[in-house]
Amino acid sequence: MASHTIGIIVNGATGRIGSTQHLANALIPIIDEGGLALGDDRLVPRLLLAGRDAARLAAVARAHKLADWTTDLDAALADPAYAIFFDAAATQGRIGVLEKAIAAGKHVYCEKPLSPAAAQGLALLREARRRGVKHGVVEDKIHLPGLQKLAALTRGGELGRVVGFKLEFGWWVFDGSEQPCQRPSWNYRAGGGGIILDMYPHWRYVIETIVGRIVRVASSAWIATPERIDERGERYGVAVEDSAATLLELEGGAFGTIVSSWATRVRRDDLLTLQVDGSKGSAVAGLHRCHVQSTAHTPAIAHFSVMRDIGADYRSGWIEAPPLATYCNPYRVGWEAFLRHVAADAPLACDFAAGIRDVAFADACHRSMRERRWVVFPPLGEEQAR
Ligand SMILES: NC(=O)c1ccc[n+]([C@@H]2O[C@H](COP(=O)([O-])OP(=O)(O)OC[C@H]3O[C@@H](n4cnc5c(N)ncnc54)[C@H](O)[C@@H]3O)[C@@H](O)[C@H]2O)c1
Repeated sequence: MASHTIGIIVNGATGRIGSTQHLANALIPIIDEGGLALGDDRLVPRLLLAGRDAARLAAVARAHKLADWTTDLDAALADPAYAIFFDAAATQGRIGVLEKAIAAGKHVYCEKPLSPAAAQGLALLREARRRGVKHGVVEDKIHLPGLQKLAALTRGGELGRVVGFKLEFGWWVFDGSEQPCQRPSWNYRAGGGGIILDMYPHWRYVIETIVGRIVRVASSAWIATPERIDERGERYGVAVEDSAATLLELEGGAFGTIVSSWATRVRRDDLLTLQVDGSKGSAVAGLHRCHVQSTAHTPAIAHFSVMRDIGADYRSGWIEAPPLATYCNPYRVGWEAFLRHVAADAPLACDFAAGIRDVAFADACHRSMRERRWVVFPPLGEEQAR
């Protein structure tokens, strides 16, 4: 068995998602286990943490017993020891760093969204193809156990013909006056923030993988919390939507809804739930669990009981789907797939073309909102599909 090193620049290594999911839950465990098995060989990541704040980078490096970190991204990109560039820094800087990394001949992997709009993502894809570098975008949610269980049901046809679906997501994000805001302030500013650009790229691949191809959308969005207090204790005006609702039409004629909000209090099964209704049964997935109600267990409800609360428990007729045989952290699944794609040419579903479609979905919803009408969401264009 031979061991090969692969250099990875991790940009935004001190951020919430970079330090937790990508480092602590994915790359570090791969390193600690002696690398990723590739046939008889092992591929061992060698990490260079990159970011803006030297003290915080040094602390993250120390916590993971890593030697290498830098605030000089240009020098890192010029170093041939690193074949891969990964970006998990704030969204507004993504295109700039990806352009540089592609120009430096690095294989590129990044957090979602790939770009603020699909057209910019397409320019990146063209450049990546021209340079012959591999490309990928994080599409982690589909690897959540609850959604995997639901995907198995729809894939296996157990729910019958899909007649509708609803995706609900969100929780209360404090404005910073009574409690600190739980999310970075850039999420609520123009140029990278907004719940549609933040979350809809996920909803695109979740819905198209589990339910069906999206053909039309009608969206509305609003600012529920107009003022917030930032990390420095300064009050600022929220410039982008923190709540959105969308109607979707799928190929084949089924319709569904998405409601996402940072201004809602949770009284549903989980922070994210997706219910799919079918002619033979319905299923509701949360992050980890999935409950199913078949036709045989569907109550024959005839009318409201107006005068008396009959105390019905509508949750009792649902059966929990069995646990998965194995479960791996969704971000680690993404890393393993990308590393196999780079090192062994294994196919990768979540390439830039997929990332562009994720962003194009957000684009279509923004457009529908601006123009106050249904907007067609076309299939991937020739250029992307090639
Ligand atoms: N896959 C997911 O579910 C998921 C979840 C959260 C975040 N994300 C994505 O990961 C990226 C980072 O999000 P996060 O929540 O970790 O953000 P964060 O603010 O916690 O981290 C951002 C990182 O970017 C750096 N940065 C560079 N320029 C910055 C700027 N102008 N303002 C602020 N920080 C800047 C910061 O130093 C920090 O290391 C975003 O693109 C976001 O969309 C994805």
